[in-house]
Formats: sequence, C-alpha cells, structure tokens
Amino acid sequence: MNVYDTERMTESLQTEGYVPTDSVEDADMILLNTCHIREKAAEKVYSELGRFKNLKSENPDLKIGVVGCVAQAEGEEIIRRQPLVDLVVGPQSYHKLPVLERQIKVGEKRVEIDFPTEDKFDFLAKRTGVKRAPSAFLTIQEGCDKFCAFCVVPYTRGAELSRPVEKVTSEVRSLVDKGVKEITLLGQNVNAYHGAGQDGAQFTLAQLIWKLEKINGLERIRYTTSHPNDMTDDLIDAHRDCQKLMPYLHLPVQSGSNKILKRMNRSHTAETYIDLISRIRKARPDILISGDFIVGFPEETDDDFEDTLELIRQVEYGQSYSFKYSVRPGTPAAERQQVTEAVKNTRLQELQKLLVEQQKTVQQDMVGRTVRVLFEKHGRQIDQVVGKSDYLHAVHASGDDDKIGCVKNVLITKSNTNSLQGKII
Ligand code: 5AD
Ligand code: SF4
Repeated sequence: MNVYDTERMTESLQTEGYVPTDSVEDADMILLNTCHIREKAAEKVYSELGRFKNLKSENPDLKIGVVGCVAQAEGEEIIRRQPLVDLVVGPQSYHKLPVLERQIKVGEKRVEIDFPTEDKFDFLAKRTGVKRAPSAFLTIQEGCDKFCAFCVVPYTRGAELSRPVEKVTSEVRSLVDKGVKEITLLGQNVNAYHGAGQDGAQFTLAQLIWKLEKINGLERIRYTTSHPNDMTDDLIDAHRDCQKLMPYLHLPVQSGSNKILKRMNRSHTAETYIDLISRIRKARPDILISGDFIVGFPEETDDDFEDTLELIRQVEYGQSYSFKYSVRPGTPAAERQQVTEAVKNTRLQELQKLLVEQQKTVQQDMVGRTVRVLFEKHGRQIDQVVGKSDYLHAVHASGDDDKIGCVKNVLITKSNTNSLQGKII
C-alpha cells in the first residue's frame, strides 16, 4: 500500500510543479514513506533521516518530510528526535500535501496526524502519466477493526473503510486507458470490503471483482491482504468462475496453535483455516496459497510452534512471509511475557527451512508446464523480458520489448531460487 500511496503523493506534488528525481542530491523535497508494522522498519526511518543531514546543510531550501504509519504513530516526537524534519503526515492526511508544502516552504514545521472526516481520495490529483506499467496497485479498502493483539494497523491506518464502487471502477478505467493490464486491489483487510454501490447497497469484494471483470482491456485481477474470517462463499466461488481473477491467494494464518491464535485475538482456529483452504482448493485446485507467520509470540511454547509447523505441512504454501514477533508499543501483546530472542531466532530458521522447501517444490512443479505470463519490463540480459505468471511467479524469457504489456503462453524450463525461466510459445 505504501507503493500506491507514494504514487498518489507524487501525482499530487506534480500538480504543484514538482518532478520526481532519482537522485536525493537534486531534490527540493524528500518524503520518506514509512512502515510501523515491526520495530526494525520503524527504526530504519531514523537512520535514513541521518543520511540527509549533509544535504540540508548544502541546500538550506531542502524540505524533509516523514509520511506513512511511523508519522502517524510517533507524530511530533519525530521532529523532537530529528529536528531536520519539516513535515510529519499520517497516511490518512496526505491529500493535504499541496497545502502543507506551501506552509513548510515559508519555514513552518507541520504535523498532520488527525484522522480527517473527509475522504482523502476525493481530494487527490487525478491518475497521471500517459502510459503506465502493465501492473498497478489500487487501494479499495483501508484500516482494520480486527485488533489482532500484535498489530499496530488499527491504530495507524484507523478504522476499516471501503471506497465506493464507482470511485474504484473509474480509477481502474483510467489506469486501463493508460495501458494497465493487471490490477491488484489493496486493503489491510481487503476481503472485508463493503463499498457502496450507486444505489447505496453494499458490494462484497466478490461483487466488485465481477464488476471489474467486465472492463475491456483489463486482463487480470488480484487482491491482497485477506483475513480468513472474511473469506466468504461468493469470493471462493469467484476463484472458480471469474476468468480474470488470478489463482493466487495470500491468506495469513500467523500461527498453527489454537492457544496462540486465541491470544492473538485471531478469531479462527487452525482447523477452520485448514478447512477453508480445502474449500478454496476444491473451487480452484491449482490456486497458489501464500501466508504470513509470526514466531515467538508471547507465551509460545515448543508445542505451539510444532503446531505451526504441522499446519504448514498440511497446507503446503507456494509463497510465504515469516517474522519474529516484534513488540509494538500500545498493542495488548506488548505487555505480556516475552519469548527470548534466541528462541525466536531458532524457530524462525526452522520455520523458514520448511517454507523454503515447500516453495521450491511448488516452483519445481511448474517446470514442463505452460503458464500465462504478463510481461512487465526487460530483464538484465539483452533480449530478455520479465513478467509474472498467473501464480505470481517471476518468469524470465527471451524476447524483445514488444512483449511488454502482453500476456503470453510460456513453457517453463527451469526453476531458480526466486524465479522461473521459460520459453515464449
Ligand atoms: N511482529 C511481527 N510481525 C508482525 N506482523 C504484524 N505485526 C507484527 C508484529 N508485531 C506481520 C503479520 C502480518 C504482516 C503484515 O506482518 O504476519 O500479517
Ligand atoms: Fe493487523 Fe491484519 Fe490483524 Fe488487522 S487483521 S489487526 S491488519 S494483522
């Protein structure tokens, strides 16, 4: 979502006369778009800011801002800790950037972290660019009301909110007009989507997907990230029936221990999750399942961890993201009995070993198969193009740039660590 937000902020500042630059030395304004999900990401902001000290002494007109979830969570504290910062803006307020830019240009410092009553999307610049990359992100839902005990999202992104259906479809149309072929619908809890249709009736995510399916020129639809409890039957059916909906599902489970899931406030069990996966696979047998896992959540024992490994063995993930539990200030789990760093390290290693094996097996199974690939850019080698398969695997193939933006059938010939190699048919 930060990638999407960054695009929107760039577009807003372009209407104020700014142009993007690849070199920080040339910049009149630097905005760091930040993540607060784990401590490591949040702390990185301060080391990055330190690197801009010299730039500011060389160019006193340079303005530096911190935007995103660290801005939301830490507010004025950021300027106290790093006085070279001129601007702090939370993720719900970045539509105010053009106004804030004028204020900081005349020497004011501004902190904007209230949750505004207006919808920021109504105030953002129109989607710009004559031609865009073939694949684009699009936020349709923001925030979360689930309050998992480890997670800062409900505090930084705020309450769950869905964008109205017409706003989403018109943004998709505008992106497709500029060459976009694949849209990834984004939300912290995207499958809880319940945006209003024209007559005020609420759409489910599946109903929205069916509406987008009808847009000519749009070839692929994806969505992320989902919660198991919001995986409704109509969404499972869409995976069976909707041609443009890709056979890939990121469905975080976090833990395989019912005791830990309960303490995480996840409101699903290992059994309901496994049953859900089997219903999804029944609807779309070739779907690739991806997950998020946390090891070392407070009070996690060896037996609890073993339950997580067992769940992974049963599900067989094609892709995964795994993390050591990170204490987040203000969340319920921060106050509990913590697992030692050494135990977290050992468990993460063991977990990742299993997940890497599974990923390798799933990738190896692709060899010899013909898959559809949307080519997105040229590769490192001459006459090489790179794209994504329906299953979201990165695929390299020989071919010239006229393949970019096209979906082609590709025979997979080799599996590398994190990508596949193939031959365009
Ligand atoms: N510590 C470790 N991982 C976390 N995640 C969220 N909060 C934390 C935390 N405090 C992980 C979850 C979530 C993903 C986006 O980040 O697995 O699904
Ligand atoms: Fe965080 Fe996801 Fe839980 Fe919401 S559902 S609190 S975003 S982990």
